[in-house]
Amino acid sequence: MKEVLPEGGVVRKLWIGESAKYREHLLRLDPQSRRNRFSGGVSDQFITKYVDLTAGLDTVVHGFFVGDTMRGAAELRPLGAGFPREAEAAISVEKPWQSHGVGSALLRRTLLAARNRGFRHLHMACLADNRRMQQLARKFDAELSFDFESVVGEVESSRPTPLSLMREMMSDSHGFATAMLDLQSRMLRA
Ligand SMILES: CC(C)(COP(=O)(O)OP(=O)(O)OC[C@H]1O[C@@H](n2cnc3c(N)ncnc32)[C@H](O)[C@@H]1OP(=O)(O)O)[C@@H](O)C(=O)NCCC(=O)NCCS
Repeated sequence: MKEVLPEGGVVRKLWIGESAKYREHLLRLDPQSRRNRFSGGVSDQFITKYVDLTAGLDTVVHGFFVGDTMRGAAELRPLGAGFPREAEAAISVEKPWQSHGVGSALLRRTLLAARNRGFRHLHMACLADNRRMQQLARKFDAELSFDFESVVGEVESSRPTPLSLMREMMSDSHGFATAMLDLQSRMLRA
């Protein structure tokens, strides 16, 4: 499906060694978005430790990048050891980029990644007053079931197919090519 993203923006996976970009993005969130992302107020120090921990786990992070700067992120973190069937997902978009389809693009990519890794249930912590996240989840109601009375939403993702694996591979190679072109143009400018 064609994604409509703000001009100059691209969604791609975060590479090893890029965790500083993720940390900086989370630190830039305005207080309300930060509270919604972490289901409560958290300090800068908490975010720094949280990102360090994320880098050491088997976590898939998709980023929304404008140039070299990450302006949105979706994290997919397995719950449990071995071959877990459950994972947790969390999305964040910086305020100036909200309501432009970025959250939808990130959630779509995360659902595909969850499916291809065999996760059957995807938990999303969402505060009861977070209308935006609830609206976003409703857009995916074929794949998502969300209990708005409680804090935790749950996704049932379907089984991987050759086509779903291919879709993820194609998105990854497109993201890689875009990042390389961006790097090349910045090197030429320098
Ligand atoms: C929730 C969040 C990820 C949504 O991201 P987004 O980029 O704004 O989402 P989209 O632009 O794709 O919009 C998704 C849907 O939300 C709804 N929406 C968008 N802007 C809205 C607004 N101002 N008020 C209410 N609903 C809104 C719409 O239904 C929209 O779908 P549509 O454009 O097809 O009508 C983003 O607001 C955010 O980062 N919030 C802070 C962190 C957070 O709450 N994370 C969720 C907990 S893990």
